[in-house]
Amino acid sequence: MEEKIGKVLLSREEIQKRVAELGEEITRDYKGQNLLVLAILKGAVPFMADLIREIKIPLKYDFMAVSSYGASTHSSGVVRILKDLERSVEDHHILIVEDIIDTGLTLKYLKENLAARNPLSIKVVTLLDKPDRRKAEVVPDYNGFTIPDEFVVGYGLDFDEHYRNLPYVGILKPEAYSAEG
Ligand code: PRP
Ligand code: MN
Ligand code: MG
Repeated sequence: MEEKIGKVLLSREEIQKRVAELGEEITRDYKGQNLLVLAILKGAVPFMADLIREIKIPLKYDFMAVSSYGASTHSSGVVRILKDLERSVEDHHILIVEDIIDTGLTLKYLKENLAARNPLSIKVVTLLDKPDRRKAEVVPDYNGFTIPDEFVVGYGLDFDEHYRNLPYVGILKPEAYSAEG
């Protein structure tokens, strides 16, 4: 697995430090509020698991899973909900957790969809922001790292469902996704 990684972009330690900072900031901002942490499956899982343990106030967490329609992933902006929330969010402040914002199309859809359910507020925390690829205007409220337009994997981020369990974020060697890998 690791032989396919050309370069470590963010080490385990760098991620850990930044996640702790984000947790502190979120703790401060949501003190006394009814917080619902909403992780978007599957990429956000490792980040969310680490982040919630750095948030030192009571919270709930839940998951949604979405998928783009059709083969041309992330081109249409039409998103299908594969797993929805289990409860009403009306008296909650929603904090959406993403591993990466790329085109922004997933989040744009999610924010609109969730807004229609009348939560108290909706904010977004992402580990990575790749603004070069944006198609929909989405700006994270909390961002771990802004990264260049490279093929990154690890810490939840996959290529063909693999590499999610790497404890760091690495850049995949082109040979890993061009040929058979
Ligand atoms: C990835 C990533 C974000 C989304 C970002 O998820 O985890 O959810 O794409 O892309 P966008 O900004 O261009 O919409 P993916 O659909 O690959 O599913 P996964 O989390 O299960 O890997
Ligand atoms: Mn995802
Ligand atoms: Mg993916």
